[in-house]
Amino acid sequence: MKPSDFLLLPAWAAITAAVAIEDLPITRNGSTLLLDNKPWKAVGANIYWLGLDENVSPPFPSSPEEVSTDYYAPLKASYPTKGRITEAMAVVKAMGGTMIRSHTLGVSTGNPLSLWPTGNGTVNDKAFAPIDWAVYQARRHGIRLMVPLTDNFDYYHGGKYNFLRWNGFDLTQQKDERNLAVMAFFNNATVVASFKRYISALLTHVNPYTNLTYADDPTIFAYETGNELCGPVWGDLNVPASWVREIGQYVKSLAPRKLFVDGTYGVNRTHLVIEEVDIFSDHFYPISINKLKADLDLVASVNKPYFAGEYGWLGNAASSDADMVSWYKVLEQSPFVAGDAFWSLFGHNVPDCNSFINHNDGFTMQYGNPSHTTQIKLVRQHFVKMSQNISIGAAEALPSVPCPAPT
Ligand SMILES: *[C@@H]1O[C@H](CO)[C@@H](O)[C@H](O)[C@H]1NC(C)=O
Ligand SMILES: *[C@@H]1O[C@H](CO)[C@@H](O)[C@H](O)[C@H]1NC(C)=O
Ligand SMILES: *[C@@H]1O[C@H](CO)[C@@H](O)[C@H](O)[C@H]1NC(C)=O
Ligand SMILES: *[C@@H]1O[C@H](CO)[C@@H](O)[C@H](O)[C@H]1NC(C)=O
Ligand SMILES: *[C@@H]1O[C@H](CO)[C@@H](O)[C@H](O)[C@H]1NC(C)=O
Ligand SMILES: *[C@@H]1O[C@H](CO)[C@@H](O)[C@H](O)[C@H]1NC(C)=O
Repeated sequence: MKPSDFLLLPAWAAITAAVAIEDLPITRNGSTLLLDNKPWKAVGANIYWLGLDENVSPPFPSSPEEVSTDYYAPLKASYPTKGRITEAMAVVKAMGGTMIRSHTLGVSTGNPLSLWPTGNGTVNDKAFAPIDWAVYQARRHGIRLMVPLTDNFDYYHGGKYNFLRWNGFDLTQQKDERNLAVMAFFNNATVVASFKRYISALLTHVNPYTNLTYADDPTIFAYETGNELCGPVWGDLNVPASWVREIGQYVKSLAPRKLFVDGTYGVNRTHLVIEEVDIFSDHFYPISINKLKADLDLVASVNKPYFAGEYGWLGNAASSDADMVSWYKVLEQSPFVAGDAFWSLFGHNVPDCNSFINHNDGFTMQYGNPSHTTQIKLVRQHFVKMSQNISIGAAEALPSVPCPAPT
């Protein structure tokens, strides 16, 4: 080596230094998702409460290290503790999961604890605290996030009805779900502009734990138009293709490396040609292999990936463990399946590690609850098969997850 070569070394080393895996985006090649140019499967849990919860009332008493103890009684809304959020990440990791789909990391409108309490554009910064923590902890745990931008319904965390009401359409899900006027969410330019301003406020926020905007942080690998979006008839797939394209273009103008998910409730064949859509999805209550196969035929026709975004098999959608295994087999064998997320995961009432939090929809899954162990093991077998391409036996013990989980 000539002495002058040494001068070149630092620059050369910097160029070839490996980029940390958490700084690499998930990309798409045809119907396959890739991480670091290797096939990557999006498998995990729906954990809708990471940004705002409705299941602990009143919320856990204040302690200095917790995010907040704010409580909005009419909707039982409160911010989850940092400990609950971190435990959820550790559990998904222990289950062999690679991702979490979480409504309240994106849907946060219309109540005093929301990011946008009112439609006037003023941001409630407190609401970012649990979201920032969740994105940061996901990053530390090697978990990626899929985030819906709004919701079809009028639940505690808000959704499309907030944008409608703020812009002169006096509608609620309870009385007006079937009113043709709900289409204004997609068709009225004022409403669409206000939804875009909300998206911009969310994506340009800088997370103080990482100094990255949500647009730039590859931990959030995908934004979804919304959760279970429909027109006036539930399940009608009536979401204008032009709206999906416009929102996709807008999200990609702010966040060019994000994948974009069509959050229509089901695969609408008029959406198949939308270039901006990277992933199509559907939800299953109960699981249905016929519906799954019909969806897969549609996405296969355009060589795009498919994500089974929610499925429930407990409670009032009860399916047998054998049904679950057959369902998982179809997901494991189709080259068009990018992944899936079960509905839905809850954990301990951290910092109280002795009690679990329950949600009243009948689909609550709790890691460490002895009555859920059989199902959790089946889910874990499936996640490991999908994410690591290896088979583990049903007898394999579940890894323990300490509570509180280390940050
Ligand atoms: C992308 O897909 C094409 C066609 O299937 C394949 O030839 C190519 O190797 C893929 N690239 C990567 C990086 O996987
Ligand atoms: C928006 O509304 C809130 C609550 O009424 C108010 O505090 C805030 O100043 C308003 N912001 C603007 C920009 O008007
Ligand atoms: C959109 O809604 C606003 C507010 O209600 C209304 O003034 C406007 O006329 C609507 N635009 C169209 C094209 O319907
Ligand atoms: C973020 O930026 C601020 C201001 O430059 C700096 O003080 C802080 O250490 C940075 N934090 C991280 C996590 O990089
Ligand atoms: C699909 O979307 C189009 C709008 O792009 C809509 O007209 C149609 O009703 C939707 N439903 C079905 C079943 O295709
Ligand atoms: C999964 O493993 C099988 C058997 O070892 C192998 O043939 C296949 O190529 C692997 N698939 C991927 C996507 O790595």
